Amino acid sequence: MSFSTLVAILASALACAAQTTVVVNGTASHNIPETLWGLMFEDISHSGDGGLYGELLQNRAFQEVTPGTVAALAAWTPVGGASIAVIADSTPLSSALPNALQIIVPDGVAGVGNMGFWGINVNASWTYNASFFFRFPDTLPSSDVTATASLVSASGGTVFASANVSLSPTADWTQVFTTLTPSASAPDTLNNFTVTFKDFSGTINTALFSLFPPTFMGQENGMRADIAQALLDLGPSFFRFPGGNNIEGNTIATRWQWNNTVGPLTSRPGREGTWSYINTDGLGLYEYLVWIELMGMQPIMAIWSGFSLGGQTVANSPDALAPYIEQARQQIEFVVGNTSTPGGALRASLGHPEPFTLNFVEVGNEDQFAPSTYLYRWPAFMNALQPLFPDIRFLATTFIFNPVLGPTPQSYDSHMYDTPDWFAKNSIMYDGFLRNGTTYFEGEYAAISVNPSDLFGTPANGRFTFPTMNGSVGEAAFMMGLERNADIVFAASYAPLLGHVTQNQWTPNLLAFDAGAVIKSTSYYVQQMFSLNRGDAYLPSTRADPSGTLFWSVVQQNAPPAFIIKLANTGADAANVTFQLPAAVKGAARLVQISGNPTDSNTPESPDKVVPVTSSVDAGQDMVVAAPGFSVSVVTVPIA
Ligand SMILES: *[C@@H]1O[C@H](CO)[C@@H](O)[C@H](O)[C@H]1NC(C)=O
Ligand SMILES: *[C@@H]1O[C@H](CO)[C@@H](O)[C@H](O)[C@H]1NC(C)=O
Ligand SMILES: *[C@@H]1O[C@H](CO)[C@@H](O)[C@H](O)[C@H]1NC(C)=O
Ligand SMILES: *[C@@H]1O[C@H](CO)[C@@H](O)[C@H](O)[C@H]1NC(C)=O
Ligand SMILES: *[C@@H]1O[C@H](CO)[C@@H](O)[C@H](O)[C@H]1NC(C)=O
Ligand SMILES: *[C@@H]1O[C@H](CO)[C@@H](O)[C@H](O)[C@H]1NC(C)=O
Ligand SMILES: *[C@@H]1O[C@H](CO)[C@@H](O)[C@H](O)[C@H]1NC(C)=O
Ligand SMILES: *[C@@H]1O[C@H](CO)[C@@H](O)[C@H](O)[C@H]1NC(C)=O
Ligand SMILES: *[C@@H]1O[C@H](CO)[C@@H](O)[C@H](O)[C@H]1NC(C)=O
Ligand SMILES: *[C@@H]1O[C@H](CO)[C@@H](O)[C@H](O)[C@H]1NC(C)=O
Repeated sequence: MSFSTLVAILASALACAAQTTVVVNGTASHNIPETLWGLMFEDISHSGDGGLYGELLQNRAFQEVTPGTVAALAAWTPVGGASIAVIADSTPLSSALPNALQIIVPDGVAGVGNMGFWGINVNASWTYNASFFFRFPDTLPSSDVTATASLVSASGGTVFASANVSLSPTADWTQVFTTLTPSASAPDTLNNFTVTFKDFSGTINTALFSLFPPTFMGQENGMRADIAQALLDLGPSFFRFPGGNNIEGNTIATRWQWNNTVGPLTSRPGREGTWSYINTDGLGLYEYLVWIELMGMQPIMAIWSGFSLGGQTVANSPDALAPYIEQARQQIEFVVGNTSTPGGALRASLGHPEPFTLNFVEVGNEDQFAPSTYLYRWPAFMNALQPLFPDIRFLATTFIFNPVLGPTPQSYDSHMYDTPDWFAKNSIMYDGFLRNGTTYFEGEYAAISVNPSDLFGTPANGRFTFPTMNGSVGEAAFMMGLERNADIVFAASYAPLLGHVTQNQWTPNLLAFDAGAVIKSTSYYVQQMFSLNRGDAYLPSTRADPSGTLFWSVVQQNAPPAFIIKLANTGADAANVTFQLPAAVKGAARLVQISGNPTDSNTPESPDKVVPVTSSVDAGQDMVVAAPGFSVSVVTVPIA
């Protein structure tokens, strides 16, 4: 026997000695709430405009821009010698959309182009809906003018699709529609949408352009299909929206206001979002709710609570607070009011007479940043709204129990951004909480950096650009604790959900995307493994050492009857863990496992670097699960 073989045998004996055994109790401690795993959304990093919202044109309606400036022309370029400018039209399209794009067309073929949201996906299997408004502000042309709408390569060399529309000579705003069907898919997303004019020279004013591909499940003014499908594939139960910081606004005037986001697009002014770009509000309250229903989710909807992120706060007086409380009441009424109420009637007029489901309303966002004023804002909103909507559970958004609020919150929304280690060590966070009726929503959490002293710093200092396996296994360890405490933790969502690869204000994000691709992160797969294998009842088991590297959770599934074991290994060393199950099992177990190097990420260059692998393993009542270093495993064991 060689020395190295001896060492190997000793090492393996030591590994065996250190082997972990988990005893699983057959008596469930609590049911898994049906809301447990879901999605948190706000428009950040173009997750809404340019992301989930299907519109392909950027700055389509010149909302909230300063006429005459170069910035007002963002995403637009003149084509063929036209000169273009954003003007405050003397005859505005609508009071919400006062700006127009004025095009001065010389002889020849000329017009205007839009680059989309840093690209346009031209797919030959799609038919695109294109539309815009026009009017001739000066001398009317003597006959119809032909406008050609096209999808072209940004270099101008290739025309993938084009269609002619006839513009009647009118000084009144008129909308024209056409469809575009590409003859071939573009090799990349460096494409523009153009509108050009031929045999016309003169001035034309244009407004509210739109270009839509087929949307997810055909929703009108709906969602980008590949992003929505990736979200559906997570099997989410809820959708928290519309923020997040983005509901707050940087000022009171620029807060998110539901009534500016419903009805015709011509009546939506848009707003300066909290995350440094203008929100079109094309993705409005009604679009959110219809889509949430299509996805089989339920909303966790936020109302504005009197505090804007820039520090403006509504004063502590009933008169000052009243209009904002009333606007929140109207927002809730729009969602759930019957059709005899103004809100319900408006909803019905848009096509949804039935109330939407609404069980949870969040009062603000992260009000730990303004705790002293939340002391009066919380009771003002609660005392007015809870009696009107007794079946809705309102969530407080300060730190849990801090400050002490009255009326006592039924639920809190708590947010955690930290290191992989923090998440593992804090998997016990909720274990010691009193079971006294208060429930918790872990509304935002993510491992974002390996550097605890510079958590929100740069990639050079440890901040993740994309989720890493180190972070994803840390989150999985934390999620074991959420399942163990799901009697009081009723919902949890990773955040942020979506971020444009290059146009982002925050990393990492669960899904990264650009104009053509969606990249599923390692944390996406971990979320999916938990969500699709959530089971029905939690089975208590031997406690994991919170300072160790192995974390687990065992649940029972009713149909088909099975034990579901989840195991995270946050360390580098492989381990075998034996789960002593409380009933006889049969046949083959299904193992879904993700593992990789701790620094591995799925990126645009290698989007499938780390993906879960499904295999079949022998089922046993003493079920041994082999956990490689930095891995998450889900084992479904059929009950005999
Ligand atoms: C299983 O849990 C039940 C209920 O909490 C408890 O009475 C019982 O002692 C537990 N069994 C074991 C083996 O720990
Ligand atoms: C084009 O669309 C089809 C159908 O939606 C889809 O299957 C395909 O992946 C798309 N191609 C690209 C390059 O996006
Ligand atoms: C497409 O848009 C880009 C960005 O605005 C611009 O640089 C380019 O000239 C445009 N191409 C065409 C053909 O209009
Ligand atoms: C659009 O009209 C022009 C003439 O103005 C014509 O040359 C062109 O073929 C037409 N395009 C389509 C797609 O019908
Ligand atoms: C495209 O236009 C058709 C016909 O008007 C309409 O049925 C469809 O809903 C539109 N698609 C989107 C995404 O709005
Ligand atoms: C929305 O409501 C606010 C406050 O009630 C009001 O100031 C604003 O004009 C409304 N917006 C629209 C588009 O009606
Ligand atoms: C509709 O809702 C209002 C306000 O909650 C209520 O007063 C009224 O009775 C309801 N009407 C019907 C028909 O349910
Ligand atoms: C994983 O993250 C922790 C911080 O939570 C860090 O200390 C550790 O070095 C990281 N591991 C690797 C291999 O990057
Ligand atoms: C539950 O206990 C916590 C901690 O003592 C307390 O802050 C909270 O108000 C209690 N909840 C209820 C509903 O009494
Ligand atoms: C786990 O068990 C397998 C099969 O018995 C064995 O080959 C492997 O070495 C064990 N791994 C560890 C880390 O003990």
